[in-house]
Amino acid sequence: MSPSMIAPVVEEENKKYQKGVKHLCDNGVTKVPAKYILPEPDRPIFTKSDKLIKPKQNLKLPLIDFAELHGPNRPHVLQTIAESCKTYGFFQVVNHGMEGDVSRNMIEVCKRFFELPYEVRSKYMSSDMSAPVRYGTSFNQIKDNVFCWRDFLKLYAHPLPDYLPYWPSSPSDFRSLAATYAKDTKEMFEIMVKAIIESLEIDGDDEAVEELEEGSQLMVVNCYPPCPEPELTLGMPPHSDYGFLTLLLQDDVEGLQILHRDEWVTVDPIPGSFVVNVGDHLEIFSNGRYKSVLHRVLVNSTKPRISVASLHSFPLTSVVKPSPKLVDELNPPQYMDTDFPTFLQYVSSREPKWKNFLESRKIHHIR
Ligand code: OGA
Ligand code: NI
Repeated sequence: MSPSMIAPVVEEENKKYQKGVKHLCDNGVTKVPAKYILPEPDRPIFTKSDKLIKPKQNLKLPLIDFAELHGPNRPHVLQTIAESCKTYGFFQVVNHGMEGDVSRNMIEVCKRFFELPYEVRSKYMSSDMSAPVRYGTSFNQIKDNVFCWRDFLKLYAHPLPDYLPYWPSSPSDFRSLAATYAKDTKEMFEIMVKAIIESLEIDGDDEAVEELEEGSQLMVVNCYPPCPEPELTLGMPPHSDYGFLTLLLQDDVEGLQILHRDEWVTVDPIPGSFVVNVGDHLEIFSNGRYKSVLHRVLVNSTKPRISVASLHSFPLTSVVKPSPKLVDELNPPQYMDTDFPTFLQYVSSREPKWKNFLESRKIHHIR
């Protein structure tokens, strides 16, 4: 066949995958299509019996008791935060005050959203990266050569009144439950920001705190349906998060792995807890003291998994740069000033993998 005859066939094939993995699974997929098969070195390592070869032990991330931030133990908690952000780029938060219905309802209503007929979900599909609501699949479904086993719903969430009218109107309780969740996570983020700034010993940087309090919030709901051959693909490829902090809520199915000491380790889900991680903007702001660490998501053959990542950062109009309080003659800035349009242009023009974006902002000092 001549190339001109093949192209429409490939295009037709690709169109099918644009509808996402939930759609594929609802139509009874029994093998992973070639579009999702990763080159061998990028695959997770499973044994023949479909079981993941586990690292010696799942990783137990440092635990932060949120309630202790408000008591006499605060200095100790701040120290644990500082150490976790340097060593893991991640920590886990319990006793955060959202243990009750709010987080449970959020997971549950998101499950119901992904169970809606494809025609309803697809109303929110958009290739515009700055659309207030965007339903989609894979990581970047326009650019990805290999697709990952994930559908998503992205919701801009701050200021809420600006965005709420665009959020899905079905399920009928989606907006109210997701709005409560967004507000509560934002409050949690604000308490966390003060702790992070204090842990960097730059408590005087009120300007940064104020900017972050008025900053951007993007909620990403991830849906990972069971995958017939989980050893061939990933739910999400290795990436770092671009915001300041990500607050991740997961259901009780494991899947998140972080790169720790050059090994992929699975994070043990603690029901009701939040996994918090350093994003690229915090790495820049802390002038490299805290690291945004690569992470990825495994899928499995039996259990669907839902997670909600809330990405918080400076306002979309801000320039992100190392805190002036962490820069002096002995500590020159390690990163270029960075704005959101530069980032959006970067991610929409290529496969946003690994830590490419952050690498592109690094200043290499000649000594
Ligand atoms: C993300 C992410 C992890 C997960 O949304 O950026 O890394 O477990 N999610 O779904
Ligand atoms: Ni992430």
